[in-house]
Parts: sequence; C-alpha cells; structure tokens
Amino acid sequence: MQELVAWARKVREDFPILRSLHPSGRPLIYLDNAATAQKPLAVIEKLADFYRYTNANIHRGVHWLSQEATQAYEAARERVAAFIGAASEKEVVFVRGATEGINLIAQGLRRVWFSPGDEILVTQAEHHANIVPWHIVAEEVPISLRPVPLTPAGGIDLAAVAQAFTERTRLVAISAMSNVLGTEFPVAEVAAMARERGIPVLVDACQAVVHRPIRVQEWGVDFLVFSGHKLYGPTGIGVVYMRAPWGEKLPPYQGGGDMIRRVTWGGSRYAPPPAKFEAGTPPIAEAIALAEALRYLEEKVGWDFIQAYERYLCDYTEAALQSVPGITLYGTARPKGAVWSFNIGEIHPHDVGTFLDQAGIAVRVGHHCAQPLMDALGVAATVRASLAFYNLPEEIDQLAQTLHEVVRFFAHTPSAP
Ligand code: ALA
Repeated sequence: MQELVAWARKVREDFPILRSLHPSGRPLIYLDNAATAQKPLAVIEKLADFYRYTNANIHRGVHWLSQEATQAYEAARERVAAFIGAASEKEVVFVRGATEGINLIAQGLRRVWFSPGDEILVTQAEHHANIVPWHIVAEEVPISLRPVPLTPAGGIDLAAVAQAFTERTRLVAISAMSNVLGTEFPVAEVAAMARERGIPVLVDACQAVVHRPIRVQEWGVDFLVFSGHKLYGPTGIGVVYMRAPWGEKLPPYQGGGDMIRRVTWGGSRYAPPPAKFEAGTPPIAEAIALAEALRYLEEKVGWDFIQAYERYLCDYTEAALQSVPGITLYGTARPKGAVWSFNIGEIHPHDVGTFLDQAGIAVRVGHHCAQPLMDALGVAATVRASLAFYNLPEEIDQLAQTLHEVVRFFAHTPSAP
C-alpha cells in the first residue's frame, strides 16, 4: 500500500491546480472528480502547443500546417480507438461531449429504428443525459423508458434485467457506472442478454472510462459514449463509438462542413462515417489533447495502479465516512469506483457542501443530474465525494474530520422554525 500511496504523491505533482490554496488559505482538497477531473501539465501544454505551433483547420488545406493538424487529429482518433478496443478508428466519432453523443445517436435512431410503442431498457441510475434525449425522441415517436430497479445496495441484479425485457424492447441504453453511487453495472452480461434478443446496446461510459479499461468488442456493445473532461482531458470533446454497420445505417445529426461528399442545389450526399457525423470545424485541439490525456494515463500513470489505488481509496473513504454519526451512505454494492454519496441526518446537503467548502474541500451537492435516482432513494439531494488517483488518504481524513465538525455544529444550531 505504501508504494501505491507514494506513486499517487508522485503523479499528483503533474497537476498544477492541486497546489492551489482555497481563498481561506487552506490547501485545496478536490473531491469533485466525477463532475470534472483536473488536468495534468502534459495535457495543458499539448493544448497550448497546438495553438502555438500547429493551429490550422483540418481536412481542408493543401498547406503543410493544415496537413500537420489533420494528421494529429486523425492520430488522436486512432489512439481513442485503441484505448476502447474498437475494431477500427472509423468507428470513433468526435463530438463535443457525451451528452451531444447520446443526442446524436438518439436522433439517428429516431429516424431509422424506433416505432411507436417501442421501449428502451435503462437502469434506475441513469444520468439525465441518458434520459432526456429519449424523451425528446418520444415527442415525435411515442417510445418509453423501462428502468431496471437497483438492489438496495445500488447494484444491478441480472434477474431484474431479464424481467425488464419485453416484446417491445428495441434498445438497451445503460450506464456502466453510476455518477451518483459509483456502482459499476455488468455491461458485458447485459449486452449478451440483449444480443440473444437481437437488441442493440448503448453504453454511457462517462464515469466508468475513468476507472477501468473499456473493451467495446469484448463487451459486445453497439454504441458507447464518454467525455474527455472527466478523463483528465479538456472540456468540449467527447467520443461516440459506433460499431461499423451503425455508422452506415444512421443518418447524420447535423449538416455542413466536413460531412459531405457532394452538394448540389438538388441535394447532398454524405461522406462515409465517421466524417458523416462531424459537421463543421470539430474540436481539433481538444481531440489532440484528449489523446495526450490517454497517453499520460496509459504510459505514465498506469491502469494497474489506477485500479488498485482507487480500490484502496474507495474502502478507505467508506471506513472514514462510516465514523461520522448519523451518516447514510448510498451505493455500497461492489464493484464500485471511488465515489461516495451520502447524507447526514436531517442536515441539508447544501449546508454540508458549504461547510466543506469553507474548509477547502470541494464536493458536489444536489441531485447530480439524476432526479429519477434521487426519487428512488427517497431524497432530494446528496453530498458526493468523488475521488481520483491523485487524491491522498490524508485528504479523506480531513473530509471525515470536517464532517464531524459539521455534525457538532448542527447539533448546537437550533433549526429554523
Ligand atoms: N455528470 C457530471 C456529474 O456527475 C457533471 O457531476
């Protein structure tokens, strides 16, 4: 364990922002990584270097700068394809984030896949980004969502999944890991059940991609999305994996720019995928910097370390939080990433978050863009501490100590009439 903590201390030095002080003068303790992760210097410099040395539009110029930029952008696509185990880089579409990715898929499927009465099998833990795009589809094609209930510990029971399939199930669209609970869902097993029934599978991997390697072919999924900014890359870049036949089958989401083969006044013919889905000037610098984040993770930090250390941090945090009087932890099922949602008695989560902020500790409070899950938990909001491989055990000790202070403070503060 000592070795893991020592490596965490070492890689932490790669993140300049983690040396910041809170305005109170206390060191920043950043525990809001599920909202967005901090960026290593390598990524920050890659982004700046693109603008400093390589900036040009791509796929449009015969000049050398445009060719350099194009080459770097397409190399980024290849890196992402290898990172998720895709069969070809042509199955990787760059978008501005996972939310745009799900909207792209939803609008494509609306036109070629759904019929009135169809159902989409989801989990009870979906983020709004995997709920609202389907509600928008349902405004035109009346389809509905069928959520698989979670176990009391926040996991997924495969028997419950089997029960949720019906004659009308037309798509499975599930998160690989809850952004609220941190629990991981059995994507490969659910995908196998869907495949037996001839139903395509979409995976929201926004949280999972940060904590474990993704293997789209081994999982046997048709679509997968994630955002760059949670994966130590820049904002404004996301990835859609689209298994080969779908790239041909789906119509484009937006028109213009790079996505055409031929345009006349009479109509447009589209470029083959992935260009077909990348209208307009794409997030070039961001894609290149995302590839740098992947290089940094794979070649410097290492997946073996990330997985082992985050398991340790997850257990360490659970034990520390359990020492807080009156705490309720949500999502104790394993496997689980180092994300803990909780409430303390009747203390409002926003009060807890504000108190923690004054101690220099950044957490997220609220419904975490998962209101149906909040309904299922019977709460309006939670406090969420989400950890990354650069967090240290002493930061968790500080979190627990401050939560004890919160409890003492509110025990002596009469509640409002
Ligand atoms: N989806 C992000 C979160 O869980 C923003 O905080």
